[in-house]
Amino acid sequence: MGEKRKGAARACERVTLPAPRTLDLNFGRGIRLSSMQTDTAQTDTAQTDTARTGIAHPDTAPLRVVLVIGSNRHGRFGPVVADWLLDRLRDRDDLVAEVVDVAEADLPMSFASPPAPSAVTPKLASADAFVVLTPEYNHSFPAGLKNLVDWHFTEWQAKPVALVSYGGVSGGLRAVEHLRQVFAELHAVTVRDTVSFHNAGSSFEDGRPKDPSGPDAAAKTMLDQLVWWGRVLRQGRTAMPYTR
Ligand SMILES: Cc1cc2nc3c(=O)[nH]c(=O)nc-3n(C[C@H](O)[C@H](O)[C@H](O)COP(=O)(O)O)c2cc1C
Repeated sequence: MGEKRKGAARACERVTLPAPRTLDLNFGRGIRLSSMQTDTAQTDTAQTDTARTGIAHPDTAPLRVVLVIGSNRHGRFGPVVADWLLDRLRDRDDLVAEVVDVAEADLPMSFASPPAPSAVTPKLASADAFVVLTPEYNHSFPAGLKNLVDWHFTEWQAKPVALVSYGGVSGGLRAVEHLRQVFAELHAVTVRDTVSFHNAGSSFEDGRPKDPSGPDAAAKTMLDQLVWWGRVLRQGRTAMPYTR
């Protein structure tokens, strides 16, 4: 065997792995067949999982979620949808909600001078997750919401964003898709499922959706996804600070 071939063989020897003691037939979802079924099997499994994931105990503490109210128009409909949404958030014990209202953010519309400290910034910074509520204005989301987003950067990074929209016939879906692009640029993750209210003004009565079953179910699906991403990303940011 030439020197080169011998070197290659040695390299192969170095990466030969020991035979696994456990056989995971369920792709990590908990059911394992062990070559030695003993009382220690469960401990072995926990140790193996910890070694594989680096996570000893999943972090299930409630997530701090900021609900961003994205419209600031005089006479706006936004707070009606926001109140319904806040009830959905408060129904859950895995989320603790706080509100940031674009109408009260008091951020300059120009970047001409350095920003004065804004009361909203620490709220965004300490959030684990966001729900952004947006109407549709001219096939997109409102300028005031874009301004709030643009004044911040690290506050959004490596965090999940759920999107709730309302509007005319489109239900704000075009605004939602535009926001996905914006949040991707900010290293945030938008969750797949959304809640949208078409012809919003006429689909609410006394501050509640006329037929709450659809929106309630959609909100649950969306918030379940937000919690999954929120927990995973919170653990990820703790284990390894996000550097872009
Ligand atoms: C400037 C402006 C533009 C709008 N453009 C659209 C639009 O493109 N598509 C749509 O479905 N609704 C559109 N609407 C309707 C709004 O989505 C709807 O009135 C919504 O309630 C506005 O949110 P707000 O009341 O919280 O400001 C527009 C409303 C305004 C004021």
